[in-house]
Amino acid sequence: MTLKLRRLSNALGAEVCDVDLTQPMSESTFGEIYGAFLQHGILLFRNQNISREQHIEFSRRFGELDDHKSLPRDRHPDYPELLLVTNRPNADGTPSESRYTGRSWHTDMSYTTQPALGSLLRCHNLPEVGGDTLFANMTMAYDALSEGMKKLIADLHGIHLSGTRKINVAEAGEARRNEVMKLNPPIAQPVVRVHPETGRKALYLGEKVKRFESMTEEESKPLIDYLNRHATKPEFVYRQMWRENDLLIWDNRCTLHQALGDFDETQLRHMERTTVLGTPSGYVTAA
Ligand code: OGA
Ligand code: MN
Repeated sequence: MTLKLRRLSNALGAEVCDVDLTQPMSESTFGEIYGAFLQHGILLFRNQNISREQHIEFSRRFGELDDHKSLPRDRHPDYPELLLVTNRPNADGTPSESRYTGRSWHTDMSYTTQPALGSLLRCHNLPEVGGDTLFANMTMAYDALSEGMKKLIADLHGIHLSGTRKINVAEAGEARRNEVMKLNPPIAQPVVRVHPETGRKALYLGEKVKRFESMTEEESKPLIDYLNRHATKPEFVYRQMWRENDLLIWDNRCTLHQALGDFDETQLRHMERTTVLGTPSGYVTAA
């Protein structure tokens, strides 16, 4: 079978037009899908009325899945492979912990030493308008830098901090805070990451990075801000306007993404994500 692809933007992404994920898929078709994933950075499958089991099964073909034990509050109670990004209130009426997930430029699990290879996000419920997600192509952004800038950043490491470290001590207590800090230490990642499969260099930053290794925050900030601003210029970006039953997979090794929050918060937006584990990258460092 030859896949029918439709490009989503000049920078990245393709829609796979003729695949029904409720049906069995041959190894050779999956091979074509995987090749298209490496080439385009994002693949969109529309109108996929799949079950949670089918979402998980299809995701497994990309590699071993995370069970999200570092984010226990956000995972589906019956399916640890599914992470919820939802504003549906908890059963006791309290607001959902994941309602603001992804609201700044980031790449999934960069604050661990085994960052995600890919993520497969499925749209279950959408507000009337908005609830879009932006994606940016970090290979293209890297290639567009001057030779001087490439040289300057070649050996830099950015320190990535988990969002779970933002803890309210007054509410959670000092002991809980220390435990969370220990479980989620700062992780240094190369600013220029070589993609383990394509061999291409990509910027690996985002807004979770507050400083470079062995530099102060004050020294680092102007360059981090510049690189993030450069990398997320409109020419490197695709804007996903969701439809229910969309399944979108992105390559976390060479893209950034951001949830926009451009919708009426009183309306339901419910997404579910699987996370494919990647190869080891980075090391534990000091805050
Ligand atoms: C994610 C994420 C963005 C969104 O699931 O990793 O960042 O728009 N989601 O829900
Ligand atoms: Mn994310």
